[in-house]
Amino acid sequence: MKKLFFMLILGSWALTLHAQNEVTLNADSANIQISKHIYGHFAEHLGRLIYDGIYVGEDNSQIPNSAGVRNDVIKALKELNIPNLRWPGGCFADTYHWKDAIGPKNERKPIENMSWGNIREDNAFGTNEFLNLCEALGAEPYLAVNMNSGSVQEAVEWVQYANHANGTSYLTDLRQEYGRDNPWHVKYWGIGNESWDCGGHMSVEHYVNLYKQYATAMTTYFNSEQLFRIAVGPGSPNYDWTEKLMQGIPARRFEGVSLHHYSVINWSNKGSSSQFTDDEYFITMQRAWFMEEFIQKNCEIMDKYDPEKRVALVVDEWGGWYDTDPEGNGALYQQNTMRDAMIAGLTLNIFNNHADRVRMANLAQMVNVLQAVILTKEEKMILTPTYHVMEMYKVHQDALLAPVHISSNDFVNGGERIPAVSVSASINQQGKLHISLANIDNKNSQKIEVNIQDFKAKRVAGRILASSKVQDHNTFDNPEKVTPKAFNKARLSGGKLAVEMPPASVVVLELD
Ligand code: AHR
Repeated sequence: MKKLFFMLILGSWALTLHAQNEVTLNADSANIQISKHIYGHFAEHLGRLIYDGIYVGEDNSQIPNSAGVRNDVIKALKELNIPNLRWPGGCFADTYHWKDAIGPKNERKPIENMSWGNIREDNAFGTNEFLNLCEALGAEPYLAVNMNSGSVQEAVEWVQYANHANGTSYLTDLRQEYGRDNPWHVKYWGIGNESWDCGGHMSVEHYVNLYKQYATAMTTYFNSEQLFRIAVGPGSPNYDWTEKLMQGIPARRFEGVSLHHYSVINWSNKGSSSQFTDDEYFITMQRAWFMEEFIQKNCEIMDKYDPEKRVALVVDEWGGWYDTDPEGNGALYQQNTMRDAMIAGLTLNIFNNHADRVRMANLAQMVNVLQAVILTKEEKMILTPTYHVMEMYKVHQDALLAPVHISSNDFVNGGERIPAVSVSASINQQGKLHISLANIDNKNSQKIEVNIQDFKAKRVAGRILASSKVQDHNTFDNPEKVTPKAFNKARLSGGKLAVEMPPASVVVLELD
């Protein structure tokens, strides 16, 4: 009997211990910068992203716009401090000829968008419109070069049109003729897109050889233009691709390697974006957590060939992908719920914690497509839960990563388990500490003890994004259902922070 009592006591003590998540934070070792470019976006000619979502035309739209670009969307995007924007695809980029879409609109060549619905693309939104949009947003453009149906020469000429000094070629003359006097100085160039799939179904050996041709011709010999050239990396656990890419491309011929990963339940049955079961929610979270392993394994390979970490890992497509909502009236349109907020909170923590190698990323996609931050319907616009996470996390942009060690409870579903809590932290130029936490468990709240060690804090404040169900989302009739609120469940005492997070919530704390 005595023995049983002792075991019961021990059992309940163990339970209490287990119920407490523990984070240890090393503010003193904060010396790696979290590149702001981790918080980048992606805009493809797909569904209602470019046309309707961003560009409504210069002449006839009732929607307030500047040079055809929606004022409401620009205003909302500017709040996110978007550091870079990838364009024009995606698979669309793999057959895109940039010269079809410059000059007077009535002289541009209409084409068929063979990647997305075989619809007519009149090319009203082209290079000038995109680069001017980036300027309006204060974002760096990231152009994806057509390495599939395009040519090396076409890529070389795109660089010249966008970047070279006036008077150096017929291309810079054209630029001036088409209303742009000075170069835009585009730094980020993706050479190919998913070259193992819609970008040409290439073998890695073929891709590497072709890549070298493009990367050499697009620059002078020593890349004195300092282009940041991003080679196509894997989009599945095909680590052989990364290995051969790192082996095959000489060190000074690339600055980044891309990686694509979508949190998708099943490619042949992705499920509804807003009506999903607990099991589907759990699988989505498992897929989101896979990003950690995927990055880790790719980093191990890159470390072998590039121990100084000169080449960046660029996750230029990530997010949740579900079945297209018919009521969205556009390919790959999907609602955006608290489930997406959890993908975003978790994924951005993973990126931050790998800031030594992951120095750029692009959420797919910006407006009306996949895990969008904004949805539009004619003149209406709503901000999604993902928008709010991106806005809350912007405090990490260019701050110094404070390494964390976490011991997390499990989020359990049937026989499967994944960590329930994820965290990342950074110190900004003003010396403020920001801690972002995601509790992906949609059934259990979590108590988290954060040991902030030597960081001397007198004050903690924060915001939370949460809602009663993971299916909750904003609609055009109820646009404020899910919005960040002040968070008052974080207490500081004696170098420790006690945080209590409700189920399925994202919290960002500020300490100083
Ligand atoms: O983001 C949608 C599509 O997903 C992109 O066009 C392609 O690169 C990827 O397969």
